[in-house]
Amino acid sequence: MDKKNIVILGSTGSIGKSALDVIGKHSERFRVRALAANSNVDLIEEQYHRFLPDYICLVDKKAASELKSRLSSNNVTIFAGEEELIKLASIENADLILNAVVGAAGLRVSLETLKFGRELALANKESLVVGGPLFARLCEKTGAQVLPIDSEHSAIWQAKLAGREEEIRSLILTSSGGPFRTLEADKFDAITVEQALDHPTWKMGPKISIDSATLANKGLEVIEAAILFSMPIDKIKVVVHPQSIIHSMVEFVDSSVIAQLSVPDMRLPISYALFYPERVESDFGKIDWTKLPPLTFEEPDFDRFPALKTAFEVAGTGGTAPALFNASNEVAVEAFLSKKIKFVEIFGIIRSTIEEIDIVNDPDLDQIIDADRQAREFAGKMTEKLAC
Ligand SMILES: NC(=O)c1ccc[n+]([C@@H]2O[C@H](COP(=O)([O-])OP(=O)(O)OC[C@H]3O[C@@H](n4cnc5c(N)ncnc54)[C@H](OP(=O)(O)O)[C@@H]3O)[C@@H](O)[C@H]2O)c1
Repeated sequence: MDKKNIVILGSTGSIGKSALDVIGKHSERFRVRALAANSNVDLIEEQYHRFLPDYICLVDKKAASELKSRLSSNNVTIFAGEEELIKLASIENADLILNAVVGAAGLRVSLETLKFGRELALANKESLVVGGPLFARLCEKTGAQVLPIDSEHSAIWQAKLAGREEEIRSLILTSSGGPFRTLEADKFDAITVEQALDHPTWKMGPKISIDSATLANKGLEVIEAAILFSMPIDKIKVVVHPQSIIHSMVEFVDSSVIAQLSVPDMRLPISYALFYPERVESDFGKIDWTKLPPLTFEEPDFDRFPALKTAFEVAGTGGTAPALFNASNEVAVEAFLSKKIKFVEIFGIIRSTIEEIDIVNDPDLDQIIDADRQAREFAGKMTEKLAC
């Protein structure tokens, strides 16, 4: 069997490392053509020696030049900077691009992948949220396919196979509820970065951990589901399921609900996307049924977690509204991680940005990039004021 040639963008992050773990266990099936990250020279050098890619890109130019000197006697082409990252989507003999970059920085390389008609295994939900209108057009034009890696969307992708499109009543996204699921509203003001990073069921990178604590991550996933599965927003529901065993569900018109379950392990949805349409033998996330905790379900609390409510509104509005949501959230999360603003202030920054900036319907790429820039500027000013 021919090996599948893979490009991993964000290879030094939580998803990137899990993807390389899967690939390392199936070296007879995959070949790593290229790796990319921002600036982690040590780890990407280690990954080079293990997987021998033909190309590496580091977006941070200083880091790239350090890597060049370390690997000068090796047969690898090293790219530097954001423009060169985009080139990795079109290198010859690449079958699948796995985008695990964090934030809207992953947008242009996602679009380039689709432009070349290649499979896009997508962890970088922000690029779909921001560039949604363009994703659909490009997929239609080139026949490219988006294979979701987010566990919820992977679950829905699998569950949907149980019926016909017109038989779907709703998509039900599960949410762990994050570390503050049971915290009283009057205690939100004192939430620290360390508490917010301590997710109860998943170990992830810092940005998505904060997003999971505010439920902005669930909000991004609601928007992602609406775009990915072309589903009207009133057919998308969120249910809090603290054990994170059911990763999401599809309800059909006869009230049957099909769910996908596993112990939380991102290597399972990553494998599903990498091997699709095949399933292969593996124990990632295997359930021991007699040891499972009771599975419980709750309504999400839109009052304590208003970013989720805003995300539903934004998904319904469409156009550049999701780009505004995403950009203001990225700015606010970064400010919170640098301890410039409070946890609760993230919500107000997102809300005010969406209310302040004009929304463009049916935008092109320039209009999306402009919306992203305006939102970052506005949210940046708000964080500066709050930090004083
Ligand atoms: N972690 C999870 O379980 C999980 C689950 C579902 C979806 N996701 C999504 O997957 C994506 C990655 O999440 P993560 O948790 O793996 O994040 P992470 O651990 O913070 O890793 C981010 C990766 O992106 C690279 N990167 C950062 N800025 C970049 C830039 N401007 N250009 C190119 N590369 C850049 C980082 O490189 P350096 O190491 O050099 O900084 C690193 O390799 C996010 O969109 C997240 O929402 C994650």
